Amino acid sequence: ARVVVLISGTGSNMAALLDAASDPAYGATIAAVGADREGTQGITRAAEAGVPTFVTPFSAYADRSRWNAALAERLAEYRPDLVVSAGFMRILGPEVLSAYLVINIHPALLPAFPGAHAVRDALAYGVRVTGATVHFVDEGVDTGPVIEQVVVRVEPDDDVASLHERIKQVERAMLVDVVGRLAREDWTLENRRVRWGAAG
Ligand code: GRF
Repeated sequence: ARVVVLISGTGSNMAALLDAASDPAYGATIAAVGADREGTQGITRAAEAGVPTFVTPFSAYADRSRWNAALAERLAEYRPDLVVSAGFMRILGPEVLSAYLVINIHPALLPAFPGAHAVRDALAYGVRVTGATVHFVDEGVDTGPVIEQVVVRVEPDDDVASLHERIKQVERAMLVDVVGRLAREDWTLENRRVRWGAAG
């Protein structure tokens, strides 16, 4: 399966996917890495690894719809079977979502704490457990069907940085696992639930 990874920053999830994809048995190859802004560490990392990269700067377009259309055009060049939003801080519109299957990694146990400040919000609420979610992307903000989740305990001394770091360690492994399974296995989606294995 051909995978394009979309990032906005560090790209540690993307780097974990790149590592996994270096083994042909993984089933997915990273066709390209794209970003919504110039100068991200993740794009530098991907380029150093010899992976094609592109930037579709959000700021260069008059509105969200035109930016989405431009992004869909860039994606088309790489013919992805799957698009992975991994630390990509933009809401995708119908221009992209009608053309591609997109999944996202979110650093909380959805539907708790959607949005851009999930780790901060979970800590502020005082939950004892949080975690990470891989889900299909629909037009809402972190509302698409859940594929997999992993739990992380909140420790008494946690701050946003320490908690996010522990979440990132487990979310990378989960994302690598889910992308590989989507690439290698048959699956269907029924009533918001993923069913693994051949249909019928
Ligand atoms: C991850 O925690 C992801 O869940 C969130 O943003 C972070 C991105 O980290 N959406 P990285 O760029 O993959 O290092």
